Amino acid sequence: MSASTRSGRVGVGIIGAGVISTQYLDNLTIFPDLDVRFIADIDESRAHAQAEAFSLAGSGSVAELLADDSIEIVVNLTIPKVHVEVALQILAAGKHVWSEKPFALDRESGQRLLDAAHAAGLRVATAPDTFLGAGIQSARRFLESGGIGAPLTALTLMQSPGPEKWHPNPDFLFQEGAGPLFDIGPYYITALVQLFGPVARVTALASKAKTTRTIGSGPRAGEEFEVTVPTHVSAFYEFESGQSAQTIFSFDSKLARTQFEVAGVDATLVVPDPNTFSGDLVLHHGPDEVETLPAVGVSTTRGTGVAELAQSIRAGRPERASGENAFHVLDVMVSTIESAERHQPVDVASTVEVAPALPEDWDPRVASLTS
Ligand SMILES: NC(=O)c1ccc[n+]([C@@H]2O[C@H](COP(=O)([O-])OP(=O)(O)OC[C@H]3O[C@@H](n4cnc5c(N)ncnc54)[C@H](O)[C@@H]3O)[C@@H](O)[C@H]2O)c1
Repeated sequence: MSASTRSGRVGVGIIGAGVISTQYLDNLTIFPDLDVRFIADIDESRAHAQAEAFSLAGSGSVAELLADDSIEIVVNLTIPKVHVEVALQILAAGKHVWSEKPFALDRESGQRLLDAAHAAGLRVATAPDTFLGAGIQSARRFLESGGIGAPLTALTLMQSPGPEKWHPNPDFLFQEGAGPLFDIGPYYITALVQLFGPVARVTALASKAKTTRTIGSGPRAGEEFEVTVPTHVSAFYEFESGQSAQTIFSFDSKLARTQFEVAGVDATLVVPDPNTFSGDLVLHHGPDEVETLPAVGVSTTRGTGVAELAQSIRAGRPERASGENAFHVLDVMVSTIESAERHQPVDVASTVEVAPALPEDWDPRVASLTS
């Protein structure tokens, strides 16, 4: 990967001015290596409101954003079913993509996106970037240092009643491209791949508690919508390394709970929630021998990966939250659904090379790109 011909701060545009854009803007506007120049949305009034709230120079249509030559990375915060179509538009305009998860809804469109990026010499980096936070990075460094002996198995759990109570437009979270597997699974599966390497095989079961749900907040409160995807998925993952993980992704439990633990020959490590950027590690040497290890590194939140992408573009090295990484995670999720539908194990065809852990002192709040 050759270094970019431009130098200095990297111009950024954002497409999608919905719920998550606020957290992104909070961070992207304070990272000194980034220069957020424009926000667009099909609902231009949302883009204008966010531009005003964050004092951005420009806001308006997607076409206006894509015509701006000063923008090198476009952050795609649209809803899952248009992620690929919007990302392809961004690549066609000669710009790098940072996309919210999921990377795509199926393998074919995910592959099309990877191919388009390769052909154009551009990047399609993709969330989650939570694994770049202090929690998962510290866990990874600890496991790699032999802290629990050989890591053997993982147990992960994410269960909740579902997001329809708090999200004002939750329909998409219960339809193709979401549900607990595609909405929350990327955090857990990405973290598992960071710790154990690529997944080789999946065996899964899936079910759905309700066929409709009711919106609980915002102007549409009380409106019923259809649930078209499984809302409880349990899966066993076998890794190329021979390690294994047992996982649950569920919006069908009134008891909200998360867990992520890795058992090794000598100890069990409880890893922070991979849907967050921080949290300490808890090490169990035995039933009554528990030790807390503070996480080391930055805990800036969503958008951290955009800063890492910008630095990687300038340096000519692969970004950590790469399209290849996201494609493998997508392939694992699609294989999970196929396994549940067929009641059979499914081999995962794709693989990925996991990039090294971040240096402990890496901090996107510190300027590293000079003109
Ligand atoms: N809400 C969260 O807590 C959260 C957390 C992490 C990740 N995400 C991810 O972020 C993405 C967006 O989620 P959200 O909650 O902000 O959704 P949202 O519905 O609040 O916002 C999406 C925005 O995209 C716009 N949009 C849709 N299609 C478009 C198109 N073709 N061109 C331009 N704009 C378009 C919509 O008008 C809307 O303003 C999703 O992929 C979701 O999985 C959300």
